[in-house]
Amino acid sequence: MRDRFGRLISYLRLSITDRCDFRCRYCLPRSHRDFLTPREWLDPDELARITRVFAGLGVSHVRLTGGEPLLRTDIADIAQRLSTLPGIDELSLSTNASQLSKSAQRLKAAGISRLNISLDSLDAARFRDITGGDLARVLRGIDAALAAGFAPIKVNMVVMRGVNDDEIDAMVDFCLDKGLALRFIETMPVGHGGQQAQRHYLPLGEVEARLKRRFRLSPAAMHGSGPARYLQVDDSALRIGFITPQSQHFCDTCNRVRMSASGTLYLCLGQDDNVELGQLLRAGADDAQLRTAIVDAIARKPQRHDFLGAPSAVLRPMSALGG
Ligand code: 5AD
Ligand code: SF4
Repeated sequence: MRDRFGRLISYLRLSITDRCDFRCRYCLPRSHRDFLTPREWLDPDELARITRVFAGLGVSHVRLTGGEPLLRTDIADIAQRLSTLPGIDELSLSTNASQLSKSAQRLKAAGISRLNISLDSLDAARFRDITGGDLARVLRGIDAALAAGFAPIKVNMVVMRGVNDDEIDAMVDFCLDKGLALRFIETMPVGHGGQQAQRHYLPLGEVEARLKRRFRLSPAAMHGSGPARYLQVDDSALRIGFITPQSQHFCDTCNRVRMSASGTLYLCLGQDDNVELGQLLRAGADDAQLRTAIVDAIARKPQRHDFLGAPSAVLRPMSALGG
């Protein structure tokens, strides 16, 4: 399935709840009230049906996101259903890891192979300040994920000037020590939280230059690298990714679309173009009708985000689509 710019769409990111037990400043403002009701969340049957139609159109990788996807009590059921669909080669999960220590094994058994874990600070007080969450629980979650055998596990750090940019070296050491991949992410001005975070925006070129003073780095490939550009730290297994939506957008190779927990398909994280697949499904659409709606939507996928030109294009918080 190609869009009008020739991009092959093979990756579907499914937000399965817009709720989160954290309140990361750049994502979900504390004042946010406009959550979906759990009845609006697509259930495992509905998710499997829509994903099956996507798989028939060439989607082979599905990622579960939130909000925080582990807040869904039926997460293992969802994972089991999606990972066994014909054509779905890879099921991955993005999580804040707060609930991971008790569910890592179960999620692995349900067919999730790769994990992305958010981790913006290794200092408990600062971690609480940025996310509202408990660092010790997250670290226990990471250890449980390692013990359960997920590979690779990628740690995502949103780098913010004056907030956590003094922890780059500490994060590199942590990931070296644990055998995790590390990805630095530039803030994105999505939603009110993201727009607030703009004043801490730090172009990752600066981080790369700093790291080059400490390490010898060479370009590296990474499975499922998507928008990240990776460098390998010589004489180690550590790979460091740079996700630079602002300083160097990567829209030309975009291979993905995103669906909200209620089944609204968004064609670009930085634009509001969407189609209500969930409503179609609940109104009784058959697979052929879903398929047509998806193909028509993909044909409208915007060429690129316009974070800088139209910063207020996206008012939904990042938690509605999980990044
Ligand atoms: N800018 C950049 N990344 C963000 N995320 C959430 N909000 C933003 C933002 N405004 C990322 C976090 C998290 C993932 C789920 O989404 O890094 O790891
Ligand atoms: Fe929750 Fe992730 Fe948003 Fe933080 S970034 S508030 S953990 S959804």
